[in-house]
Amino acid sequence: MAAWSYTPFQRLAARDLYSLLATRAFTENGLYLNLGYWKSARNIDEACAAMAMLVAEAAKMRPDDDVVDVGFGFADQDMLWMERFSPRHITGLNITPMQVRLAQQRVKRRGMAERITLIEGSATAMPLPDACCDIVTAVECAFHFHTREDFLAEAFRVLRPGGRLVLADVIRAAPEADRLRRRIQDFTWSQFSQKFSVPTANADQRVPYATKLHAAGFEMVDVAAIGEHVFPGWHRALSEDRALFARLPLAGRLPYQFLLNIDAHTVYGAFDYVLATARKPRQDG
Ligand SMILES: C[S@@+](CC[C@H](N)C(=O)[O-])C[C@H]1O[C@@H](n2cnc3c(N)ncnc32)[C@H](O)[C@@H]1O
Repeated sequence: MAAWSYTPFQRLAARDLYSLLATRAFTENGLYLNLGYWKSARNIDEACAAMAMLVAEAAKMRPDDDVVDVGFGFADQDMLWMERFSPRHITGLNITPMQVRLAQQRVKRRGMAERITLIEGSATAMPLPDACCDIVTAVECAFHFHTREDFLAEAFRVLRPGGRLVLADVIRAAPEADRLRRRIQDFTWSQFSQKFSVPTANADQRVPYATKLHAAGFEMVDVAAIGEHVFPGWHRALSEDRALFARLPLAGRLPYQFLLNIDAHTVYGAFDYVLATARKPRQDG
């Protein structure tokens, strides 16, 4: 962990990164690994669940839906959705074997194994047949995929006509006018992409991101910026909630201790956090 944190240019594939992080998750009561949606959340547990709810509500998840959820972490989001929306079935795909194994046990303990199937696999090569689901979701993970464009093609393939795609995703912010701030943005993005396994091809800003969704065949594309309800809340929580701070890996606490002295706008100025929704056209061709 220290080698990964402090060695310049040290890269890890997403699977190795999450294997290294093991069960060091953000929430106290679950094992969520997203930054949280803080519009009305009071703590990290509420914020992470709120992010999952935001995605499910944007997907208009209903009891007759078959859902494919990629990058499910430890499946907290899938268990929450099953409890709240009771979709017919959720198939989860995750590239990190230890997360899949632990998530399978958790789902079984909750008595949901019949309705939630969790498999090891990549979002960019889904081991699933064509037109097998009504919804594809990706909560805070598509920036890792090699590449996001390949994932969009796969999502389009596995969705039935009329199916919905929803992503909570991290992309590049538009460059700031001020030169120094632009340099900070470039530095922050390069650190993020190096340390968190983000391919260069995924450094999209909002308009090219929407263009890629259209190019994959989707319609009713909407890419909404929600960063104001993500980054400041996460930044504030890290400085106020010492238990959350202590759950960060030891080697990550030192850089964060420094970053907490800087305002959220500067620390996260390189990023746009988006909620992207799109639909596969009802009629093929
Ligand atoms: C930041 S975590 C988010 C986990 C979860 N969605 C949550 O909100 O708690 C990113 C997740 O994406 C998964 N992941 C990364 N690359 C992947 C890929 N190519 N296919 C499937 N899952 C992937 C990781 O294993 C990890 O579970």
